[in-house]
Amino acid sequence: MALKIGLIYSSVDGHTKKICEAIAQVIQDDETALDLIAIDEFERSISEYQLLVIGASIRYGKHNKSVHEFILSNQAELSKIKTAFFSVNLVARKDEKNTPDTNPYMIKFLKEINWKADFLEVFAGKLDYQSYSFFDSLMIKLIMKFTNGPTSSQEPIIYTNWEKVKNFGLRLKDAIKSSTKE
Ligand SMILES: Cc1cc2nc3c(=O)[nH]c(=O)nc-3n(C[C@H](O)[C@H](O)[C@H](O)COP(=O)(O)O)c2cc1C
Repeated sequence: MALKIGLIYSSVDGHTKKICEAIAQVIQDDETALDLIAIDEFERSISEYQLLVIGASIRYGKHNKSVHEFILSNQAELSKIKTAFFSVNLVARKDEKNTPDTNPYMIKFLKEINWKADFLEVFAGKLDYQSYSFFDSLMIKLIMKFTNGPTSSQEPIIYTNWEKVKNFGLRLKDAIKSSTKE
């Protein structure tokens, strides 16, 4: 049986999209059709999919409001299929804040939205001072100073644990394959 899986991302600088691509690579096989779509461009019917994965990054403490809007306006459809949600942020670079139960943004998000995906995960993101505007750079430096992170770097720092991303993909693949077995 052919499986259809959607990966939807809310990404400002492309890192969450990159994580979605890495998950897609793990899930990809001959029996599975994958769609990778930006959340603002998603116009399909959710019922086409057996699994929908939503990934969203944090900016100034919040996921983009399009993430909330998408989930709230599709809540009934989402409850009929398997769903996964992951959050990408820099607080998750700390071991004690990198799980769905310990990451403050994930905890807050789940409380606010009153929706819980079947699979949840949190990934540490990318820090790239050279790509930020003056204001953003200043703000991120401040956040980093308070949280004992680097306040300057000429090169991007990728905190993402790609093994964790791969394992999440494998977990999703296993779950979706076993739930659709005859
Ligand atoms: C302007 C700006 C604000 C950010 N605010 C936060 C924040 O409040 N908390 C946090 O943990 N990470 C914060 N981050 C880090 C991002 O979540 C991280 O860089 C992530 O990899 C971005 O993913 P994206 O490229 O998919 O948007 C911020 C990054 C930027 C550029």
